[in-house]
Amino acid sequence: MSIKPLSYGPLRLPTRWLLSPLAGFTNLPFRRIVRALGGLGLATTDLVNARALIEGSAKTLELTATCPDDSPLAVQIFGADPRIMSEAARMLADRGVASIDINMGCPVNKVTKTGSGASLMCRRDETVDLVEQVVRAVPIPVTVKMRLGWDDQNITAPAFARAFEQVGVAAIAIHGRTRAQGFSGVVNRDGIRQVVEAVESIPVIGNGDVRTVADAERMLRETGCDGVSIGRGALANPWIFRQLEQWERTGQYEPAGDFDDRLRLLKQQFRYVMELRGGDRAVPFFRKMAHWYLKSMRVPPILRNKCQQVHTCDEFFAVIDEIAERGPAVGTRHDLPDMHIHVPAGPNANW
Ligand SMILES: Cc1cc2nc3c(=O)[nH]c(=O)nc-3n(C[C@H](O)[C@H](O)[C@H](O)COP(=O)(O)O)c2cc1C
Repeated sequence: MSIKPLSYGPLRLPTRWLLSPLAGFTNLPFRRIVRALGGLGLATTDLVNARALIEGSAKTLELTATCPDDSPLAVQIFGADPRIMSEAARMLADRGVASIDINMGCPVNKVTKTGSGASLMCRRDETVDLVEQVVRAVPIPVTVKMRLGWDDQNITAPAFARAFEQVGVAAIAIHGRTRAQGFSGVVNRDGIRQVVEAVESIPVIGNGDVRTVADAERMLRETGCDGVSIGRGALANPWIFRQLEQWERTGQYEPAGDFDDRLRLLKQQFRYVMELRGGDRAVPFFRKMAHWYLKSMRVPPILRNKCQQVHTCDEFFAVIDEIAERGPAVGTRHDLPDMHIHVPAGPNANW
């Protein structure tokens, strides 16, 4: 494959395979795990409330925590007030982040009812003005991540992408679903292609439902996009970026890790959480993630429950060792099952 390397303005990314933000999952410890496995072009933080950031909320600041091996890093901000969004972007640029991503895709009510996230796609002039103000506020590349539009009757992403390019946005990431679709149905690659065709020269990143090298190849081929960002597929298989980088270079790639490799990653991720939060404060922080991993790995319920009940780091490591000894309840150590992440479901008016 020979498409040109991916750059956000002057920022040349090491690969075209990017980690999509997944609130609650793509925190610093997870990003470090993925980066160490190789192949990642850029990671983005979970969405960060711009107002809370400039007000100095400790919880929000923790979402932007980073370290030297967590590079290049984009921080994703959300908000509806151009002044606040610009100030947050300036603050982050001063702290050395590589680029700013504006969230225009989040479908959940908590975010859209404040006029941010996907609802920005319902107000054209104001939204373009907001984005332009953020672009002007910082010397680093600004990107926008959006959905195809609010619903099938309002596929506004192509027109927005063109307008954003004209006000200086460095790249667009596009999740090929509408807000009304939530996470249901399949990704509309045709819709992504329309965004690719709408812009003149900035890169477009295709996103949605990529879980394998074959899916990524199809995304590139059918949409003409310049890079691919992967969210849930990376949680299920953190080796995917390395596989994609190997495939792009050689046409072949190594298999993903197995049960024991996954447990090693889990322990390493927990050590990074300890570094981030200090000692036993890591335990409550990691519960949700550990539960998700162990359930997906078909660890027997009794051991999963034991893991949920630990209070200290030593207890945590001891349970993981027990799990390693026992192996999965179903299947073998070499065949990892498909791993599913919970997504908001049902009528999205209730999210
Ligand atoms: C649990 C969860 C949290 C998410 N959080 C964010 C977020 O903070 N910002 C954002 O732009 N998109 C967020 N998304 C959307 C993903 O980045 C991505 O666009 C979507 O999941 C489709 O890509 P995938 O199929 O590769 O996961 C989230 C999705 C899920 C499932």
